[in-house]
Amino acid sequence: SHRIMLGPLVAAIDQGTSSTRFLVFNSKTAELLSHHQVEIKQSFPKEGWVEEDPKEILQSVYECMERTCEKLTQLNIDISNIKAIGVTNQRETTLVWDKETGEPLYNAIVWLDLRTQSTVERLINKTPGRNKNHLKHKTGLPISTYFSAVKLRWLMDNVNEVHEAVVSHRAMFGTVDSWLIWCLTGGKSGGVHCTDVTNASRTMLFNIHTMDWDPELCKYFGIPMEILPRVRSSSEIYGLMKICSSRKSGALSGIPISGCLGDQSAALVGQMCFQDGQAKNTYGTGCFLLRNTGAKPVMSDHGLLTTVAYKLGRDKPACYALEGSVAIAGAVVRWLQDNLGIIGSSEELEKLAASVGTSYGCYFVPAFSGLYAPYWEPSARGIICGLTQFTNKSHLAFAALEAVCFQTREILDAMNQDSGIPLTQLQVDGGMTSNRLLMQLQADILCIPVVKPSMPETTALGAAMAAGAAEGVSVWSLNPEDLSEVTSEKFEPQINPEESEFRYARWKKAVEKSMNWET
Ligand code: G3P
Repeated sequence: SHRIMLGPLVAAIDQGTSSTRFLVFNSKTAELLSHHQVEIKQSFPKEGWVEEDPKEILQSVYECMERTCEKLTQLNIDISNIKAIGVTNQRETTLVWDKETGEPLYNAIVWLDLRTQSTVERLINKTPGRNKNHLKHKTGLPISTYFSAVKLRWLMDNVNEVHEAVVSHRAMFGTVDSWLIWCLTGGKSGGVHCTDVTNASRTMLFNIHTMDWDPELCKYFGIPMEILPRVRSSSEIYGLMKICSSRKSGALSGIPISGCLGDQSAALVGQMCFQDGQAKNTYGTGCFLLRNTGAKPVMSDHGLLTTVAYKLGRDKPACYALEGSVAIAGAVVRWLQDNLGIIGSSEELEKLAASVGTSYGCYFVPAFSGLYAPYWEPSARGIICGLTQFTNKSHLAFAALEAVCFQTREILDAMNQDSGIPLTQLQVDGGMTSNRLLMQLQADILCIPVVKPSMPETTALGAAMAAGAAEGVSVWSLNPEDLSEVTSEKFEPQINPEESEFRYARWKKAVEKSMNWET
């Protein structure tokens, strides 16, 4: 059959909290040629616990690769044009596996999981002045249930298989990137155990100044350093794909895996925020606003995290970012669907909310996993307030969308206060940005324009760019001049600022009520 000539292609695995994707881009135009997406099951074995099955995660990657390769073949596109594969992933989610059997020793503990709340409170109480920022000077992070170290500690203390594997030197720890790269490069027969600086910076074991695992932090959490993956840059060849040749995706065998970034860092790269001061907000399961601060880590005075943004090559400098993390964004949509059953799909949410166009004074703080930035309050719990006889499910749907916007506003305010230079517009991406009502509401509540790229898969694009730019692959130039202009859509604020401030003040009151719920 007739094959289309496209030049080099670059692929990305995007393993998020709610779904996995495999995507193939044209490295000249950044055009998305083919992709496939599979949902990931989450289990909630106890209140506040969130787990995923590491093998299902891996299988979903294989499934997405297989389907994408089938689609490429149907499009007459030669799979051998794919020159590099990047990995991007939900961050902090913690796995331990046995390097001899290749078997996971427990489910993945998802970043949202709250089982370590009492451990975290105990750790904070032991610090001088009960200071949750006790480790911030090294890690950029507050002590919180969010990060991997406490989850790993829980696994070592509570899962016998993990404990035994650690004692007998068979345990490997990793975030999702490490698990996938190890499996995809051969697993128990020679898999590469590595992570990149962005993922490492979310574990609480990594020193963001020395850019390496920190022996003191490992000692503090009682983590043996031998179980940690090797830390590499975000753009270099980690290893080659080994994949069973009997399948369509077998054609991916031998392709270098040469990009790795936590999903929020990847989105920053995919949105081309390479300059100090540039920022993006991604609406996924959670919502994450990152602002590039250049070569120097800036410590926040307003509850933001300091994190490694990217390091695009072994000899390239690291760039840092300030980050505002919101735990629940898309997750509130799934909750309305699965737990309340008031919508059948996320598209229905927009229709339902649009049918009333107001929350009618109803405020919904979805603090299901405590509150993250800027509060870092693990004991906060969700509340819905301002209900009257008149309130119905449409108002609740509207309040849920507004909650996402108010949470972003809180972060944007913190970001502006920290940097002293207010953002004049907000670049956005992620699944929820297809909700036009949400985008308009966001502009209204921020009182600045919201700008959305027409190609929504910026996270995957960032990982693909890093993979294609790696030394030894070099099919993608990351020179800002060579990067084509992205087309985008702009949402301008439409309500007056007083109205916006009034609603935001009410939201703040609701947040106060959601905090210190248990005391
Ligand atoms: O820190 C968690 C974050 O990386 C998860 O992203 O897109 O799955 O909500 P997402």
